[in-house]
Amino acid sequence: MKGVVLAGGLGSRLNPLTKVTNKHLLPVYDKPMIFYPIQTLVQAGVKEVLLVTGGHSAGEFLRLLGNGKKLGLDALHYAYQEGEGGIAHALALAKHFVDNEQCMVILGDNIIEANIAPFAKKFRKQKEGSRILLKKVSDPERFGVAEIKNGKVSKIVEKPKKPKSNYAVTGIYMYDKNVFDLCSKLKPSGRGELEITDVNNAYIKQGLMEYDVLNGYWTDAGTFESLYRASTLVRRKGIKE
Ligand code: G1P
Repeated sequence: MKGVVLAGGLGSRLNPLTKVTNKHLLPVYDKPMIFYPIQTLVQAGVKEVLLVTGGHSAGEFLRLLGNGKKLGLDALHYAYQEGEGGIAHALALAKHFVDNEQCMVILGDNIIEANIAPFAKKFRKQKEGSRILLKKVSDPERFGVAEIKNGKVSKIVEKPKKPKSNYAVTGIYMYDKNVFDLCSKLKPSGRGELEITDVNNAYIKQGLMEYDVLNGYWTDAGTFESLYRASTLVRRKGIKE
């Protein structure tokens, strides 16, 4: 299974921290943010990774990560996203890299405690479709929210005003090769982006979406509060080997 880390965007919610660097290069406790999602992939047995970045500090990733060997990768590739097209737009850049394999996609600002190797193992056995990881949170309106009926995800709503559950969709997604066809059919959302939630809802409609619930902490790190929380969590609890 190939890995894709999405580390683009302007990080405008972290201005002025992101004025001269990319959000994913900022520190989370004792490491640059981008180390954590890469470590999550490595733990899941995903050793060939494409990092999609954008904005003005793209070259710094190469300086920091090189060929990825020091982080446990067999190979690290890079792609550049022009503009602010959204998560699914960034993912579409991975089409040739992923080729016809399964892929695990992780957002560069998602930091988790757990080792997700068991979920990756389940997905490797899954013949087709997608698998997402959910996390029970107290502020679901900040995220994509999964509605669950009869043990299946029946719908995901992006940042609902009145969430129908407490299950946030984390930024860790596993897809079969059809994801790139689905990405190519998307239309921009109200915020002008190609939404990963639309990709996931397409899989749900086909009855091809499975899910697991993540244990341990999960946080994004794209706001001052969540960036601070991420550092505190990593410092207090570390990352499970
Ligand atoms: C994105 C996704 C959202 C998901 C979140 C996880 O939101 O659109 O569904 O819950 O990542 O971090 P964004 O951070 O782009 O607003």
